[in-house]
Amino acid sequence: MDNMLNIALPKGRLGEKVYAMFKAAGFECPSIEETNRKLIFENPEKNVRYFWVKPSDVAIYVERGAADIGVAGKDILLEYNPEVYELLDLDIGKCRMAVAAKNDFRDDPKKTLKVATKFTNIALNYYTSLGRDIDIIHLNGSIEIAPILGLSDVIVDIVETGTTLKENNLEVVETIVPISARLIANKSSFKFKNDMIESILARMAKKSEE
Ligand code: PRP
Repeated sequence: MDNMLNIALPKGRLGEKVYAMFKAAGFECPSIEETNRKLIFENPEKNVRYFWVKPSDVAIYVERGAADIGVAGKDILLEYNPEVYELLDLDIGKCRMAVAAKNDFRDDPKKTLKVATKFTNIALNYYTSLGRDIDIIHLNGSIEIAPILGLSDVIVDIVETGTTLKENNLEVVETIVPISARLIANKSSFKFKNDMIESILARMAKKSEE
């Protein structure tokens, strides 16, 4: 492995904010700001290499050491429980994991609850903690449709502004956990590239306090 610090950024709107935070912390990479479809960018002067990956894949790159550090949503960390260090809450990408249902839904505790979600483990852990029997229906997207079509009683999904729920006549029944973006590090990189990671961490922590 080379000596550059490899940083996995979540592709998309959140990633732009994340890169801006690294830049503000003194780790800019001018080539990343040129608009093109390249995915990997280096700034040898600062010893950093950035790459854009699908937000839900950041933790995999970091866990396996293809990236030394990265930024992932707490939802992904809770769902997949990757072997990484969670270094800092960046206080961006804020939303919540919630249970939602049709406005007229009334829970019958005697019945097994049908739960549609992309976040199977989060849903299972949540309902296990309540001692509630559920039937998980794993979906990959457009989760909001499930209760409307009678595929499930409720959904467990991310709610940010609440617009998606509202426009589909659904409402939040319960918030499971607040979510935000986290700076994460590969465990061995944290040992072997400690100076650089610590300096990024310190500067980002300071910035997020400002
Ligand atoms: C998430 C989530 C909801 C939506 C909530 O989907 O699954 O559909 O955002 O946001 P809102 O409360 O502001 O309406 P996302 O756009 O991340 O993509 P996905 O459909 O791939 O899950």
